[in-house]
Amino acid sequence: MSLPRVLPAWVSQVSMYLEELDDATANAIALPSAYLMATPERQRAYRVGRVCASRALEQIGVRGAMPAVHENGGPAWPNGTVGSITHAMSLVAAAVAARRQCCGLGIDIEPITSLEKAHSLASRGATTGEVFGVMENLQVDYATAVALILAAKHSLYKCLHPQVGRSFSYLDASIENVQGSTARFRARLKVMLSPAWVGGTIVTGQFDIAGDFVHTGIAIPC
Ligand SMILES: CC(C)(COP(=O)(O)OP(=O)(O)OC[C@H]1O[C@@H](n2cnc3c(N)ncnc32)[C@H](O)[C@@H]1OP(=O)(O)O)[C@@H](O)C(=O)NCCC(=O)NCCS
Repeated sequence: MSLPRVLPAWVSQVSMYLEELDDATANAIALPSAYLMATPERQRAYRVGRVCASRALEQIGVRGAMPAVHENGGPAWPNGTVGSITHAMSLVAAAVAARRQCCGLGIDIEPITSLEKAHSLASRGATTGEVFGVMENLQVDYATAVALILAAKHSLYKCLHPQVGRSFSYLDASIENVQGSTARFRARLKVMLSPAWVGGTIVTGQFDIAGDFVHTGIAIPC
């Protein structure tokens, strides 16, 4: 299965549906303690994410490795690599790159929800200006615009959190200049996250709207 590409060619990406992985392979992957009480679906999503990650690592020449869980909740990637994992419904994807090429990587997939759910999500994660900006630029509906903004912000978080070592909120960055012609967006930091990541810094990402999902990716070259 291959998903839309929202990352440069030098990033390896592997995706899979939850039901594609056979039980024997899935059950052979040990669950970290934090996932022992999770629902069977979340446990499977964790395991399929690890299989995708392992295959993506193989594609860049790192064999037999599978990321553990970092204390920040993200994957603990093998030395010399960076990566990111996402799940949405039954879709799972992992992306990996060599650290010498890439300082940070974040991918996300968000389902396009009902209008009611989109209102609720937007109240936590998107400003009116951001939503109307995307609706106008892409000529998409409200729920699609909200899904794109959240996916972009989750990609940014996955990309930067391992580098800055602190949490940051949906209002600490804004998504702007979302362009259909280039399929790119800009994420602008509104606060200082670390000495290297100050307010006003702009990071560029890519997006794709495919069926009922929005896919986003941010890869920061070194
Ligand atoms: C962590 C978060 C970004 C995950 O995004 P999501 O759309 O909810 O869920 P996804 O399925 O796409 O991603 C889950 C994966 O994110 C990864 N992840 C979790 N915490 C992470 C972190 N701190 N750094 C990097 N990756 C992380 C994990 O790989 C996880 O899957 P796994 O547990 O199976 O390994 C989101 O739940 C969250 O907490 N957001 C609040 C913070 C935020 O987004 N701020 C916005 C800044 S502009």
